[in-house]
Amino acid sequence: MLVYRTFNDLRNYLRTQVDSGSKVGFVPTMGALHDGHISLVNQANATCNITLVSIFVNPTQFNNSDDLKKYPRTEKGDLRKLDSAECDVVFIPSVDEVYPAEYTTPHVDLSKLESVMEGAHRPGHFNGVIQVVGRFFEQISPDYAFFGEKDFQQLAIIKRMVSERSFPIQVVGCEILREESGLAMSSRNMRLSEQATKEATLIFNQLNWAKENAKSLSIQEITESVKNVFNTHSTIELEYFEIADSVSLQPASSMMLESRAFIAAHLEGVRLIDNIALN
Ligand code: PAJ
Repeated sequence: MLVYRTFNDLRNYLRTQVDSGSKVGFVPTMGALHDGHISLVNQANATCNITLVSIFVNPTQFNNSDDLKKYPRTEKGDLRKLDSAECDVVFIPSVDEVYPAEYTTPHVDLSKLESVMEGAHRPGHFNGVIQVVGRFFEQISPDYAFFGEKDFQQLAIIKRMVSERSFPIQVVGCEILREESGLAMSSRNMRLSEQATKEATLIFNQLNWAKENAKSLSIQEITESVKNVFNTHSTIELEYFEIADSVSLQPASSMMLESRAFIAAHLEGVRLIDNIALN
């Protein structure tokens, strides 16, 4: 497995691969890799000849400096996992490499996709995400890019950016990998105590409950019930529960085929998100 730290070196390598007809699949990550990330690597391996994973904790997408500081950095372990997963090449740039002084970010109109849920609760977050992913796409020009539905709004925003900036890149959405308990795998889970890890299963339980009752209850009834259940748990704080259209991401006024439920919640100072299709 090859490791590069500059765009130049990476591009030189990729050029020889693309010239010999290889298709490049790109999996952007912020490291602290778990099986959810590896499932994207597996999908890239199954679709492309070359699987490229980036590890870069992007400072511009953190609206909370404490969150950035506490973000786990586990490069050695990450490289071991990627090697076992048969990843071909890893890109680990510095902040200066990604954002040189002269770099300006093209504007992308995200329309209303950005004004709800994660966008509303984390101002500037998605601008940072499309800034870094846009920069990688410009410099690397992969054929495919793989993103998890775990960050469903991020996936929708990346698809929008690809269309707005006319990148010839196929964006592939990959399903959420969960622990046996139902808890969605996340790099942030490793910051939870054993007790909080158990309590965090409430998130998926409630999403699942919403799915089971989507045909018989109204959106209002489901939303009220979920909020009430969270209110009875003092250690877990619900930030939002939304039922939204999975394409526009706007709040759904009635249950539709494409409706999806989204949750953000806090435990022990850790912010967790999850979502589920309701059909
Ligand atoms: P990160 O949180 O490291 O996630 C990298 C990719 O892994 C994302 O596409 C995310 O949706 C996916 N992923 C995370 N947990 C998953 C799970 N349990 N099942 C399936 N996929 C999962 O998302 C980011 O990094 C950053 O915002 C990034 C796109 C790299 C830009 O900085």
